[in-house]
Amino acid sequence: MTVQWKNTSKTYGFVSQAFHWIVAILIIATFVIGQAWEDTSRGDPNFELLASLHKSFGILILFLFIFRIIWRCINPAPALPENTPFFLRLIAMIIHWGLYALMFMLPFSGIGASFNAGVAIDFFGLFIIESPIPRNIEVAKKLIDVHHILTKTLLAFFLLHVLASLKHHFWNRDDILTRMLDIRRPFHRFLR
Ligand code: HEM
Ligand code: HEM
Repeated sequence: MTVQWKNTSKTYGFVSQAFHWIVAILIIATFVIGQAWEDTSRGDPNFELLASLHKSFGILILFLFIFRIIWRCINPAPALPENTPFFLRLIAMIIHWGLYALMFMLPFSGIGASFNAGVAIDFFGLFIIESPIPRNIEVAKKLIDVHHILTKTLLAFFLLHVLASLKHHFWNRDDILTRMLDIRRPFHRFLR
């Protein structure tokens, strides 16, 4: 059986689909855990677990981002339907590249905040990443503010992104959603 690993002009290949859905699940989980952690007080028995899970998932997202963005740069996305107006193409581009930027800036600001606060990062209980820089609480506070603003931006972009996918599927009735969602597609050669 031949598998369509790369994107074609019509559909996403298996690698892009896998990256998209694995990272989407990780981002949603990191967001929810971050919120739960924020609502937990320091003395709570779950505090350290939530902190470690949140930071570990975030670091995993940053790690996957490096490979995903390289794959994206050497492997262009399928074309939008021909009749898509210019302003919608522009909005889709801003949202997609905005989401890529957030996948990088969120973990980066979070790691920066932890290190500047002098807090080591416990990666899934496997190993500890000590802060390599001197403690600077002022910078840590600023980076936390940035992290908060980025989480709000992520939520807004994510909602627009999902609404747009649903609009394509139920209103325009095109295959924008299925070319990303249907992971059986890359296994059918006729879609080339
Ligand atoms: C894509 C990855 C990430 C997402 C989506 C994310 C999201 C969140 C969310 C939703 C919160 C709760 C506060 C709020 O609603 O603004 C939060 C808090 C926090 N996150 Fe992240 N985060 C990510 C990665 C990281 C990483 C990698 C670290 C550190 C290694 C980190 C460190 C923190 C810290 C220190 C806080 C608490 C801030 C405070 O005490 O107010 N985050 N994050
Ligand atoms: C669970 C809800 C989600 C749905 C239904 C969804 C749906 C889609 C669809 C249908 C596409 C393809 C668009 C096209 O064909 O032009 C897409 C692409 C994309 N999605 Fe999502 N998505 C979801 C979650 C996420 C999350 C959480 C992120 C990251 C924060 C994300 C980031 C992206 C990016 C960056 C692209 C562009 C891929 C490319 O480079 O071509 N998505 N999404």
